[in-house]
Amino acid sequence: MWTLSGGNKCNSSQIFDTIQICDKIWFMQIDILTLFPQMFESPLTTGIFKRAVDRELVQVNTHNIRDWTHDKHHTVDDYPYGGGAGMVLKPDPIFQAVEALKPVGLQQQGADIMPIILLTPQGRLFSQQIAFELSQYSRLILICGHYEGVDERVIEHLATDEISIGDYVLSGGELPAMVVADAVVRLIPGVLGSETSAVDDSYATDLLEYPQYTRPPEYRGWAVPEVLLSGNHGGVARWRREQAVLRTLQRRPELLNKASLSSEEKHLLSKLKTLAE
Ligand SMILES: C[S@@+](CC[C@H](N)C(=O)[O-])C[C@H]1O[C@@H](n2cnc3c(N)ncnc32)[C@H](O)[C@@H]1O
Repeated sequence: MWTLSGGNKCNSSQIFDTIQICDKIWFMQIDILTLFPQMFESPLTTGIFKRAVDRELVQVNTHNIRDWTHDKHHTVDDYPYGGGAGMVLKPDPIFQAVEALKPVGLQQQGADIMPIILLTPQGRLFSQQIAFELSQYSRLILICGHYEGVDERVIEHLATDEISIGDYVLSGGELPAMVVADAVVRLIPGVLGSETSAVDDSYATDLLEYPQYTRPPEYRGWAVPEVLLSGNHGGVARWRREQAVLRTLQRRPELLNKASLSSEEKHLLSKLKTLAE
């Protein structure tokens, strides 16, 4: 039995339908298919995930792909057709696992209901924008590859999305799945301490975040900018926004092409650019 944020109670088969029609109730279920569920034990029971689970905003389930094998040795991989190094994950256990996770009645429904995401270095490059996009769903399935990757038929006929966390190759999809799940979960309303915590984050608005300081006001002779100690909220907000623009110009100038800036900020930006020339 689930207790939703509104106080309503429903069983696990009802929860999915309830969430579909009642978009004010925020609850996300993430199912992760992996050969190494134990890798998720610590991340899922600490920090952001623990907080989200304790607040009943998120449920993260790990599933061992081996549980959907039917031979004596629980074989999940095989040699690649055509030869070559390494092993490839067989399609059948992955298809069976995903099919078992799809709620009855939704077997034919597509990505608009529940993205089935394969983590792969060949996927679209993960970003804050994609994290936001995924945070709008109430269910996600993440498939972690291993060895040389997964049989192409999983990509062609099962996965509805392919995500890469960067232009490098890791040995498995577990770390990428954690990266994606963490970035998505922190965007679910109520997961972070304050509703506004994610709003100023780097990339949330195509700007990098402003510099942060905490006590003491002076450390080894390095003082905190005076405006931050002034108690002048307007002044602090202005300083932070200017610093965000400046920082983005210095570190990731290409982001400024998409950032929505006020006319004052555009003026500041052209002044900063002139100074830098
Ligand atoms: C060794 S990699 C396979 C790489 C594959 N042979 C290739 O060249 O594209 C094994 C698994 O790790 C995961 N993986 C590795 N690097 C990744 C990345 N940058 N982003 C997402 N997943 C990644 C994928 O799930 C992949 O199936």
